[in-house]
Amino acid sequence: MGKDHNLLEELDKTTLPQHVAIIMDGNGRWAQKRLMPRFAGHKSGVNTVRAIVEASVQLGIKALTLFAFSSENWQRPQKEVDTLMDLFVSALEREVAQLHKNNVCLKFIGDRTVFSSKLQQRINESESLTAANSGLQLSIAANYGGKWDILQAVQKIAAKVKANELEPSDITVADIETYMCLADMPAPDLFIRTGGEQRISNFLIWQLAYTELYFTEVLWPDFDITAFIEAIKAYSGRQRRFGLTGEQVAKQGNA
Ligand code: IPE
Ligand code: IPE
Ligand code: MG
Repeated sequence: MGKDHNLLEELDKTTLPQHVAIIMDGNGRWAQKRLMPRFAGHKSGVNTVRAIVEASVQLGIKALTLFAFSSENWQRPQKEVDTLMDLFVSALEREVAQLHKNNVCLKFIGDRTVFSSKLQQRINESESLTAANSGLQLSIAANYGGKWDILQAVQKIAAKVKANELEPSDITVADIETYMCLADMPAPDLFIRTGGEQRISNFLIWQLAYTELYFTEVLWPDFDITAFIEAIKAYSGRQRRFGLTGEQVAKQGNA
């Protein structure tokens, strides 16, 4: 950790992203390259999660959102789904105490009602244990889909309309956002996808509207502090214009 620690210390803290969202992809290919079962890649991926969470804590990043299991991943072979579910339970059991010690506030986003009662229990316990922590906001997207997220928000708003509490023409973007997952934090500044694919795969499709996108060939189990720093540096070099001209943004920066 010594060398990595120094690398983190050297980063310019004034241009850090506040919220990083990551699609942790490439576990299967990492294992296949080593002639190992796909599960070995997922297992190794947990070590990367630990390292990136620790680095985020050290850097003082406010929020980290990780895509662990998509609503489409149920379609994988049953054996892979089962081993992933087991891995979620064991990783939670093993990691939660340290996360708590690091003042991390852990939350899960996605439809958890279909998980086994044991996994739901572990999720609920880890959330309540860390609820009052004021450090890194770590959100794990599990059985999450961006379309599902919008759907559940729409359903809640429709119920309000039906109860005559809201006029359809009065619905605002801010109203919708209050019902979306991650409503209590700013939208991701930096999105990272490992594993070489350049797509969103039904991750945070609403929340990523103005996020800086970064794609790397590095497979998730190989994604280390150096690769993380490279992504952060790429982000720091970008000008976020939000529809304005570059000159307008530069002027704001000088103000
Ligand atoms: C991401 O790695 C982890 C999950 C989707 C659960 P993959 O399992 O998708 O790895 P590749 O893309 O097959 O290499
Ligand atoms: C996205 O990865 C989901 C997670 C990393 C959890 P996938 O590997 O499932 O994405 P696609 O299917 O290649 O788009
Ligand atoms: Mg994949």
